[in-house]
Amino acid sequence: MRRKLAAGNWKMNGTPEMLAELSTLTGGEDGPQILICPPAPLLTRAADVTLGSKVEIGGQDCHANTSGAHTGDIAASMLKDAGATAVIVGHSERRADHAETDAHVRAKAEAAYAAGLTAIICIGESEEERLGPDCLDIIAAQLDGSTPDTATADNTVIAYEPIWAIGTGRVPTMAQIVETHDMIRANLTARFGDAGAHMRVLYGGSVKPTNAAEIFQAENVDGALVGGASLKASDFQPIIDAL
Ligand code: G3H
Repeated sequence: MRRKLAAGNWKMNGTPEMLAELSTLTGGEDGPQILICPPAPLLTRAADVTLGSKVEIGGQDCHANTSGAHTGDIAASMLKDAGATAVIVGHSERRADHAETDAHVRAKAEAAYAAGLTAIICIGESEEERLGPDCLDIIAAQLDGSTPDTATADNTVIAYEPIWAIGTGRVPTMAQIVETHDMIRANLTARFGDAGAHMRVLYGGSVKPTNAAEIFQAENVDGALVGGASLKASDFQPIIDAL
């Protein structure tokens, strides 16, 4: 049994005023895990606001090293100290804006493990790759290259995010979502055995209150990594409720 997860990635959005809504998010007694990843300067305040609530807090990125001369970067242990339980690594926006490779992402995930954080490892294809013949192979190679050998069902969540679906309002067909998530599950199980069978795999890319329930019907979709629709509780709560 894999516990469902609703993860919100605020990206470079958010104000202290917006944090107040976080404590209102709820998943019920045995409901899904709820995680919000605000910009780093808001983490400590977010942790205060959500204390005693169902909402956990995560980072959006971390450095692979534990400390040192890396201006502007954040160590995984610093996120942990600020109250985070998880960190997103390898988001396609980081891969594109900061030239992050699978090897960088794998190193960041290892740094997250060392700090006691869950790594949410993002993978996903471009539109050109989706239209080509090797789409699933490309995603499989990203999965393999970005996921450390020490990944377990506790320390790792995979987020499949087609780049062309992020922030566009476009989503893959259900057949594409099912096929891709089934492939990811098969690869995780082949590599990690029982741990791979229990590792959670999220879908991300234009998840909204209107399409969440259908997407969550897929057997190997264990939740969502949500961008725009995680910024307001009135959008995010119905997505949580659909899990
Ligand atoms: O990390 C979240 C994803 O990039 C999805 O963003 O829900 O705004 O499409 P979106």
